[in-house]
Amino acid sequence: MQVIESVKEMQTVAMQLRFGGHLIGLVPTMGNLHDGHVSLIKQANEKSDKVIVTIFVNPKQFGPNEDFEEYPRTWQDDLKKCEDNGVDIIFHPSVQAMFPKDFSSYLNEEAVSSVMCGISRPTHFKGVTTVCLKLFNLVRPDFSFFGQKDAQQCAVIKKMVRDLNIPTEIKVGETIREPDGLALSSRNQYLSKLQREDATSISKALNKAKELADSGIGNTDRIIAEIIHLLSQKRRIRIIYVKVVDKDTMQAVKTISQNQTIACVAVWVDDVRLIDNIVF
Ligand code: PAF
Repeated sequence: MQVIESVKEMQTVAMQLRFGGHLIGLVPTMGNLHDGHVSLIKQANEKSDKVIVTIFVNPKQFGPNEDFEEYPRTWQDDLKKCEDNGVDIIFHPSVQAMFPKDFSSYLNEEAVSSVMCGISRPTHFKGVTTVCLKLFNLVRPDFSFFGQKDAQQCAVIKKMVRDLNIPTEIKVGETIREPDGLALSSRNQYLSKLQREDATSISKALNKAKELADSGIGNTDRIIAEIIHLLSQKRRIRIIYVKVVDKDTMQAVKTISQNQTIACVAVWVDDVRLIDNIVF
């Protein structure tokens, strides 16, 4: 396994792989790899013959009062997980290498990004799309892998790829969960034992919503009301949003369409921000 820190070297090595006829799978991450990332790496290995994992805590996607400094950085552990799971290259650039002081070109997707997390984190998706476009340009992957837990991020990136004719196919891997249902996230480790207990109500509320939908309730106002009701019973939870939306546009819908409608939740568990979703 090769570790590349230089932007130029990454571009050259990826180009050589492509000219050598290899299919490249890219798994962009901010490190602190968990089983959700490992499952994306495994899917990348199945679809492609060279797997590149990027580990870069992207400052551009954190707001001024967010957790960029505290975001867990676990390099040795990440290195081992990549090695154990057949990664060919880790791209691990510095902030200076990706965003030199005079950096001034950003990409703004304006529709899918404008709702839900785009409201509560107004600069977040601009940071995500900008860094992903840079990674796509550097690596030119045939396939790029993202997790369903970040449903809006997946939709924004798919839209950007379509709008700008970026030659990569976006693959979305299912959300990996703890045995108690909590969706895996690097931010779970900020949770205390009590906060963690309350956090399990997120997946419980989403499962209940799916149960209602499966029983024939198609009115999304009724589904949203149920999720809000269940989350509100937990002392430490403050709801940021509960939405039932189309999974491609992220626009609210009134009735449920199977495999197309998704319930999305963002909450504060005290001072820890968590998101989750379920596809109906
Ligand atoms: O999902 C993430 O970890 C990040 O948003 C991503 C896609 C690696 C961009 O920094």
